[in-house]
Amino acid sequence: MMLIICSRGLAQAFRSTAALSTSSAYTCLCHKHHMTAHRHMSNSTTASPQKSSDVTIQGLTYPTDSYTNVTPRIISKVGCNLHNQKYHPLNLIRHRIQNYFDTYFTTHIGSPVFSVFDNISPVVSVYQNFDSLLFPPDHPGRTVSDTYYVNSQQLLRAHTTAHQEDLIKMGLDAFLVAGDVYRRDEIDASHYPVFHQMDAVRLFQEKELFARVNDPTNLSIFEDGKRTADKQEFHSLEAAKLLEYDLKKTLSGLADCLFGKEVEMRWVDDVYFPFTHPSWELEIMFEGEWLEVLGCGITEQKILHNAGASHKVGWAFGLGLERLAMKLYNIPDIRLFWSNDPGFLKQFRVDDPNTPITYKPISSYPPCINDMSFWIPNEEFRSNDFYDLVRSVAGDIVERVELVDEFTQVAKQRTSHCYRITYRHMDKTFTQAEVNDLHTKVGRAATDLLGVTLR
Ligand code: PHE
Repeated sequence: MMLIICSRGLAQAFRSTAALSTSSAYTCLCHKHHMTAHRHMSNSTTASPQKSSDVTIQGLTYPTDSYTNVTPRIISKVGCNLHNQKYHPLNLIRHRIQNYFDTYFTTHIGSPVFSVFDNISPVVSVYQNFDSLLFPPDHPGRTVSDTYYVNSQQLLRAHTTAHQEDLIKMGLDAFLVAGDVYRRDEIDASHYPVFHQMDAVRLFQEKELFARVNDPTNLSIFEDGKRTADKQEFHSLEAAKLLEYDLKKTLSGLADCLFGKEVEMRWVDDVYFPFTHPSWELEIMFEGEWLEVLGCGITEQKILHNAGASHKVGWAFGLGLERLAMKLYNIPDIRLFWSNDPGFLKQFRVDDPNTPITYKPISSYPPCINDMSFWIPNEEFRSNDFYDLVRSVAGDIVERVELVDEFTQVAKQRTSHCYRITYRHMDKTFTQAEVNDLHTKVGRAATDLLGVTLR
């Protein structure tokens, strides 16, 4: 449900205002724990021993509660920082984007305007990921079925936008944030629970925004007006239009730089993000199809106000690195980014990130497809819980999990789900016996942990 920009429609979820939340996410907010993380020193005699109910992420321990849904498999990805790994395709793309900003946006003394942050911990508060960005309380992205919660107060960021308020509070007017983000979602060739994003913010004071206007004497960036499709209530139309122009010029320049000057683009304005208005998506024509490249918009003034930057206005955008890399390098499966196979990685060993690369598949081993049908335990059951469990048990050899059939027996008041699981190893052929064994383990875990009844 939550929007994925690594691979799927940017628009999908943060745009959705439908209150889908039926999960227990709202009833448990009373569980107030001491949430401050402290360093867990396992060898130190002075450190208190870790309680079994704690989780440790990168050497910091956090208490767990009824919200906790991070799995050891997910935690093991924290700190991998593929975007910082030299010669990794995600690192190449990230540098292409960063180089564009470093080259075309410089101060009068030639230094880059945009500061870059690429090592901020993905463990953030609910406030940082949602409230600071004005997500409504009933936004589906907040549910435990969409987001990886460490506990009711802390989670693995679902987007790098989560750092906006903190960085603006630091007084920054232009910055880029690159990082790993975590979302509970479907499983297929373009969805993986961890992916990488790059976000940016650019703020202006009145003088700066109007610098290119011939006679700005009677102009103001603010007004006490009405919110329309074109602007926020606090912004003058002139300010909104200048911001939109600057944003679109900056991002079409970025698209030219990534996809070539001749690339066909279009702006989609039927988009909603809680943190920008107006909002857009940029799409480019790629191999005969419109491909969504990024989401962007004019930053909600309330966010700037809360961050102590009421006198500024600005824009923001965010994009998914995997999605871009898959298109630019022709990488067919998102799991490959996590591969340590030298056959994959060596194809990206180039010192100039602008070197054109077309990925040549190392090999493609045949898939094994097995179905699993079960009665779900109750209405609260979420497919995302099952997707997560399949990945936890079987790991990256799961290429895809699809809900292929669903029906309810009204008389017996029970609902059946049938999932088709595609297993495919990246570096060998699986025997049907090996797959059957794994498939049985998945079934057993679903029975034990999710309370389903296999059919
Ligand atoms: N955070 C949004 C996402 O994950 C992207 C975005 C960032 C959109 C900033 C607008 C402004 O999809």
